[in-house]
Amino acid sequence: MEMKGKLLDVSNLKVSFYTYRGVVKALNGVDLWMDSGERLGVVGETGCGKSVTSLAVMRLIEQPGEIQEGKVIFNGTNLVELSEEKMNRVRGVEMSMIFQEPRSSLNPVMKVGYQIGESIAKSKKIKIKQTYPEVKEMLRLVGLDPERVMNSYPHELSGGMSQRVMIGMGLASHPK
Ligand SMILES: Nc1ncnc2c1ncn2[C@@H]1O[C@H](COP(=O)(O)OP(=O)(O)O)[C@@H](O)[C@H]1O
Ligand SMILES: [Mg+2]
Repeated sequence: MEMKGKLLDVSNLKVSFYTYRGVVKALNGVDLWMDSGERLGVVGETGCGKSVTSLAVMRLIEQPGEIQEGKVIFNGTNLVELSEEKMNRVRGVEMSMIFQEPRSSLNPVMKVGYQIGESIAKSKKIKIKQTYPEVKEMLRLVGLDPERVMNSYPHELSGGMSQRVMIGMGLASHPK
């Protein structure tokens, strides 16, 4: 059942990085919200906190960074307080992220079809082979030749094709 109201409601989000040269207060109380089916563009100069905001929402801030304060209410649940195990189920299934560096996000030793299949298999709890019709559809959706791309390794694709594969993977689980 879909929840009424905001799908994502971030309030007073504060993230700091404890570097050896001092504390970087990267986010000083970010508020944003969006409903299901909405798109939100975040614009700002380099270093203003766009990436850190997105990573914090996905709970992907790593040491020496830390979420210090604030709430990330997603579908009624505060992700800031969620266990890592439960967060793993939200990530890549209910919400997903398309990373900026497609090459470093794809596994170089696995064929592309298998990698996309893996992400669908995870969300649907089915075998990877069973996902292949859907993988093909997804690749077609992002404007790639399914047969060719499925059987390619990441190094055989151009940067733009890799980025499309990442978009396909992000959409594969039909995140909210
Ligand atoms: N691992 C880190 N260690 C220290 N500071 C960081 C780290 N990651 C990001 N920051 C700082 O957080 C701030 C926001 O960065 P970021 O979200 O990447 O900006 P952008 O809006 O360009 O995506 C910047 O001042 C950046 O230097
Ligand atoms: Mg950025």
